[in-house]
Amino acid sequence: MGKILPLGESIRMAALDSVEREFLHRLSLIQVHGLGLSVDAYSPDFTSLLGALHRRQVRPAYLEVFRAAPAALAVIKRQASDVLLPYHGEGLWVTQPGIADDPLFAEEVHEVAGHLQTLDSAWMNHECATKSIAGYSFGTYLPPLYTEPSACMVAENTRRVQELLDRQCRLSHGAAPLVLLEMPPLTYFVAGTMAVPRYFQVVIESAPCGLVLDIGHLWTVYRYSGAWRRASLGQFVSTFLDEFPMHRVVEIHVAGLSIHESGSTAASGPVKESGDGFLPAWIDAHAAPIPAVLFEMLDQVLSHPGLTSLRGLALEVDTKPVELIVDEFALFAERYRSMQFPTKDMPVVSEDRVPGLPKAERLSDAVARGLEEAYDRYARVAVGRADPVGTEWTHSTACADALDTYRAIYLPYEILHWGGDVESMFPETCRRLAAQGVSLSRFVHFWFSRPRPRARSYDFFLVKIERFVEFVQDEAREVCGIAEQEADELRRAYDAANEPLVQTMSEYP
Ligand SMILES: [Fe+2]
Repeated sequence: MGKILPLGESIRMAALDSVEREFLHRLSLIQVHGLGLSVDAYSPDFTSLLGALHRRQVRPAYLEVFRAAPAALAVIKRQASDVLLPYHGEGLWVTQPGIADDPLFAEEVHEVAGHLQTLDSAWMNHECATKSIAGYSFGTYLPPLYTEPSACMVAENTRRVQELLDRQCRLSHGAAPLVLLEMPPLTYFVAGTMAVPRYFQVVIESAPCGLVLDIGHLWTVYRYSGAWRRASLGQFVSTFLDEFPMHRVVEIHVAGLSIHESGSTAASGPVKESGDGFLPAWIDAHAAPIPAVLFEMLDQVLSHPGLTSLRGLALEVDTKPVELIVDEFALFAERYRSMQFPTKDMPVVSEDRVPGLPKAERLSDAVARGLEEAYDRYARVAVGRADPVGTEWTHSTACADALDTYRAIYLPYEILHWGGDVESMFPETCRRLAAQGVSLSRFVHFWFSRPRPRARSYDFFLVKIERFVEFVQDEAREVCGIAEQEADELRRAYDAANEPLVQTMSEYP
């Protein structure tokens, strides 16, 4: 006789089952994409990359395209019309409380729906991470706060994105693209009270999304969660995969890792592993070569019996030199060309058997408010305006100096050099500031001195321009005119930057 579940548990199981069935139904409409590349329209130039792949006679079965201007996406669709083109989104900060009711968020999803329609993308992958928290802006991703309310919030926001895409986007096969969430990298530290795999388990229990497992990101979880102190890499991966919802993994990424480009000793020093070797302080770096250890991890992932929904396996190569991309993809295609994607045993759920998702339960106001406060604290700790105390920061003591490295080296580098070197962007203004004895390190302090709510779609380069002009207004008002002039030139150049690309791309045969 079967086990009799308490009523509440039965309802939860029924809801969970319907979420799972909805995922399976959406997945059954997505064909196997095979071996691909996750690329950027501009960096490296898409046309040059296509040409180089063509000359070496290596052909990715799909190209996952990072968010770009609609005109550039349209050209990519024309140039690569015989290749599947899923999409890598950006700017939908699903980890953040309050976004579901934000009109700016609805506008951003609407824009993304247009991109997906242009490319006819079967999925939209998005990092489960953000670059904007509680009014503080960052250049690279911060992972979510790994707590239970945060996971529930991500599930709620992800469902919201899927619902909006369902209404606004209809692909050639008649369905809407499936939303995939990618497990983000750790950059020196982690905050929360839950293990990373358990977090994603909670997310998928109430969101019918797929997941992307990035092998390099997984390596950074080993390195910066402190797991390397307790287990070998192989043991860590094995335990992680057994806890992670592998049956929801639709795509796998493999990208480069390297020490931080500042080259500072604190950001590059190796630590002793529990076994024989030393672990370098690598972070996610798409431009860097892919280390061999990631392919060993990939083989372990591919042999996991839970991996039943995989549709694509891609090298993520934005910002990487073209020749290196082609070399790495040729080897990768050779190594994995006979790989079997799991389609045969996948249960196909027909539309009439999908009962429709029960209305999403929203977090109570009190929980949502608590989460907002938690993210506010998280941002202030990350930028050095609060101490890492409390249960959410217990893990960070596993890598005691890692948060310091993030605050003292990584963040200042990001503000002053990454995604636009301030001295190259504002040469005359910087010369005059230096003459007055104003150090640019004060700009980093200014950037994080207070939260500034966002009024438009997120663009780190434009935020940097705006923030620098404000800084000059504060520090040296008499230089402000020059700063504004240089800012205008930068904005004009930035707007025009896409045009030559689109023309070059159109010339590809
Ligand atoms: Fe990735």
